[in-house]
Amino acid sequence: MIERVKEFPTLTIIRHPLVQHKLTILRDLQTQTKHFKELVDEIAMLMAYEATSELTLEPRDVETPLEKTSGWHITGKKLTLVPILRAGLGMVEGILRLVPSARVGHIGLYRDHDTLQPVDYYFKVPGDTAERDFFLLDPMLATGGSAAAAVASLKRAGANRIRFLCLVAAPEGVRRLSAAHPDVQIYCAALDRELNSQGYILPGLGDAGDRLFGTK
Ligand code: PRP
Ligand code: URA
Repeated sequence: MIERVKEFPTLTIIRHPLVQHKLTILRDLQTQTKHFKELVDEIAMLMAYEATSELTLEPRDVETPLEKTSGWHITGKKLTLVPILRAGLGMVEGILRLVPSARVGHIGLYRDHDTLQPVDYYFKVPGDTAERDFFLLDPMLATGGSAAAAVASLKRAGANRIRFLCLVAAPEGVRRLSAAHPDVQIYCAALDRELNSQGYILPGLGDAGDRLFGTK
């Protein structure tokens, strides 16, 4: 179950009942770190089911215990997951459960508290970037500065097939990311109302990194 929004043609909102149920518990300020982590993991896995639906297949024969038959195999190099540190890390294991052969790169970025500008501190992805499908992961798309910078870094490294998966998006972030990178499909579980004056998403779920790692 997906929803499209006319204003944002690159955005897909995943409306699956399990995703929406779990997201509501995730938003709850009473939800503690252990449960928060489990929910991020489960929602990411459910979202990945949708976000992988357009991967391309090639025919592949298979020998069953009874006879030979035709089947399918996902084409190309291994799918590559790239969490934006820190909070994107919480989405990796759930997706790996669905796609265990996926490779994992990392992009280190944090948002300066005063300027809200992304500051980058780490970049490592597997080689053969031009031949891979990348899933860039971050639970929060707020101003869009971090996601746009991360996509730009991936493109500088040669990537050209990038999807961005987040849990909660603000309209400001979707606007910025899709203006900077109209070729990147964005998947989210919710498109929230707006940002507050500190750049937090409303209603949102608070600081995803702090809630995941218990650092508040
Ligand atoms: C959060 C979040 C995104 C970013 C989103 O990370 O996980 O990376 O903010 O904001 P933006 O869309 O306005 O750029 P944060 O900078 O708090 O770093 P952390 O994960 O290390 O806590
Ligand atoms: N980063 C977060 O973790 N939460 C927000 O609401 C905005 C940016």
